[in-house]
Amino acid sequence: MSEIAKLEALEILDSRGNPTLAVTATLANGIKATAKVPSGASTGKREAVELRDDDLQRYKGKGVLRAKTHVETEIQRRVHGLDAYDQAALDKALCELDGTPNKARLGANAILGVSLAVARASAIDRGLPFYASLGNESANLIPAPWFNVLNGGRHADNSVDFQEFMISPVGAPRYSEGLRAAAETFQSLKSVLHKKGYSTAVGDEGGFAPQLKSNEEPVELVLEAIHKAGYKPGKDIVLVLDPATSELFEDGEYVFTKSDKSRKSPEQMIEFWKQLLDRYPEIWAVEDGVAEDDRFGWQQLTKTLGNRIQLVGDDNFVTNPTIFRRGIKDGIANAILIKLNQIGTLTETLECIQIARDNGYGAVISHRSGETDDTSIADLAVAAGMGQIKTGSTSRGERIAKYNRFLEIEQELGAKARYAGASVYERWQAVKA
Ligand code: PGA
Ligand code: ZN
Repeated sequence: MSEIAKLEALEILDSRGNPTLAVTATLANGIKATAKVPSGASTGKREAVELRDDDLQRYKGKGVLRAKTHVETEIQRRVHGLDAYDQAALDKALCELDGTPNKARLGANAILGVSLAVARASAIDRGLPFYASLGNESANLIPAPWFNVLNGGRHADNSVDFQEFMISPVGAPRYSEGLRAAAETFQSLKSVLHKKGYSTAVGDEGGFAPQLKSNEEPVELVLEAIHKAGYKPGKDIVLVLDPATSELFEDGEYVFTKSDKSRKSPEQMIEFWKQLLDRYPEIWAVEDGVAEDDRFGWQQLTKTLGNRIQLVGDDNFVTNPTIFRRGIKDGIANAILIKLNQIGTLTETLECIQIARDNGYGAVISHRSGETDDTSIADLAVAAGMGQIKTGSTSRGERIAKYNRFLEIEQELGAKARYAGASVYERWQAVKA
């Protein structure tokens, strides 16, 4: 047992220059650790509430001083003396103190900051790396990353409706080799874009965001870049899309406002995906292929394509155990995206991962588009052992921090380190068979 003695919070900036919270937890024996909270842009409606000040005199209302005060007064009083090793009891106390179903009173940013900072402090106190303290001491599976190399949608000012075009180096023998393959492909994509006269400026998650003309052009360019880097698409490196279609859904239809201005019914949207997969068998996962409120669309999509690719639920499940369980009953998706700040505590996040495991669903740990140099999700991904993570491209310091953390973990584990590329690949080949 190790008692929580003190909580401090600081209003810092995230990678978009918007305020967010850093929370430092100090234990009675003086050990302390800090966690920094991320922030999304294309958020699901049912996410836990990120508390902002709404004081237009500061940061256009985006300040987080109220959340900071909650950490240092009410939360501090409640958790003082609790056992830092009992994460479940701490997180339960935080949820009960908040008293709302979506952490709207104290703020999911305040609550997650405390939950994570205490978890980190207890890891130091136990003398364990964070991944070993979070999972178990034999955790050794380094996930296959999904690198977001081309951006559109709400993350870029261009003519691409879909938010993320990602590559995953599943064929690499080791994590570090996979990272190299992705970084080389990213550089190759840069020269492909440059030769075609496109901009090589990057978007929020570090992917390029050129003025492309259609939703298919990014796929073509990424395939060309993989070839030119000397890798085989569909074998060494596979493609993943996050079109974030909740952002396109209006009055029951999908509206492609940024590209061809077309409107599609849910059936037409599913047909669109089917044709795209026929054309590009290198695509092995689509996240939010239909919108969070399109339950019928999700069921149809899962029936039609659930035996071909990973269908990952982000905006619809919002890392919420209750919502996720209901979605599984409804026959929706076959994988879940896991974002700590969508739900606001570590315990509920781990519960979602366990539900995925128990139901044969995939689970992909994820960053947010607004990030910091905090690397907790890298350790969480190793602890979870589910074999996949998305945390941006191979550019921008806040994304690289996570990828570099895996390099450290790989080195620390030495001969015990395993890379998930081959196992996740085989698993999804088996789904297809
Ligand atoms: P967000 O988007 O972090 O801006 O919400 C990421 C995603 O949709 O996966
Ligand atoms: Zn998403």
